[in-house]
Amino acid sequence: MAQQFHLTADIQLADKLKTKWQAPSNIALVKYWGKHGMQLPANPSISFTLNNCHTETSIKATLADQHGFHISYEGEPKPSFEPKIAEFFERITPYCPWIKNYKFEIDTLNTFPHSSGIASSASSMAAMASCLMDFEQQLTGGKHDKAKASFLARLGSGSACRSLDGQLVVWGEHEQTPDSSNLYGVNVENLLHENFENYRDTILLVDKGEKTVSSTVGHELMNGHAFAKARFHQAHDNLTSIKKALKDGDYDSFIKITESEALTLHSMMMTSHPYFILMKPNTLSIIEEIWAYRKETGVPVCFTLDAGANVHMLYPDEYADQVDELIKSKLASYCQKEHYICDQLGHGASRL
Ligand code: DP6
Repeated sequence: MAQQFHLTADIQLADKLKTKWQAPSNIALVKYWGKHGMQLPANPSISFTLNNCHTETSIKATLADQHGFHISYEGEPKPSFEPKIAEFFERITPYCPWIKNYKFEIDTLNTFPHSSGIASSASSMAAMASCLMDFEQQLTGGKHDKAKASFLARLGSGSACRSLDGQLVVWGEHEQTPDSSNLYGVNVENLLHENFENYRDTILLVDKGEKTVSSTVGHELMNGHAFAKARFHQAHDNLTSIKKALKDGDYDSFIKITESEALTLHSMMMTSHPYFILMKPNTLSIIEEIWAYRKETGVPVCFTLDAGANVHMLYPDEYADQVDELIKSKLASYCQKEHYICDQLGHGASRL
């Protein structure tokens, strides 16, 4: 229960605090799509933690009569970030009441381009939550609590709770996953067969524009969705199956579930009211190229999608050179300005 994250330890307020953390993005294999209550998922999800795509956030806190904050991006004031951060502080204050005593100077940057169509909410909320847990540790003299950092990050953005840890994280209660919780992500990287070591994710940037549908609106469309019940049920089954595939190093099953999940996510969007299509013609062209290539070469490369047009290509490290050839010779031409980002599995948030 959420009560476990209420602060019970004694606090010694300090005049000034500072810290800097990085937290990565993550890519879901079984997707979170649908939520209720205070950021509780309608179904469990599992994701690979990325490495290169991450947010770096430094925060200075000064003891003050009134809580407040100032946010900048690479040193430049960023008022457009304020509402989301104000809401985040409001949601987490019951669990970190000392926040009321501080003014925060937050500076942040993403290693991936701002206009890449890659959601930065997961990495940025995870980085913020890590900084705040670091302060809490400094004020209590306790240990850094990763579960609480994940719990706080979730209150900022659901998928952010999967960005604290690596390389494989489950979020959401799942009967076959001991210790799984709707409140925070749990590390299940011990499941990973060596076939998935240094697994690659190359993100093909088909559309770098702002999302046309915010994920909050998208999640809401699962309320009353005609297929919601079946979808939520299916996610539980897919999670059970993909965990087995990851453990057995079974590429075929991994590919079937991962691609089906991506298409199911987009099917849910196409069959909600209002309905929408986030894939672009080039998204489909890339999917077809990947399927043709896999059939022709037997290389176990597959795709997944976020709530957008970009394609995440997932493949084993040992095929990196071959897949690179494919990207350069064919797939890059489907990307905006031929841009793509090379990433791989990573280990979660860390102090800088
Ligand atoms: C399609 O975590 O961005 O990427 O909780 O409203 O912030 P909020 O939503 P968000 O949703 C991400 C949805 C997804 C699938 C996934 O990451 O599991």
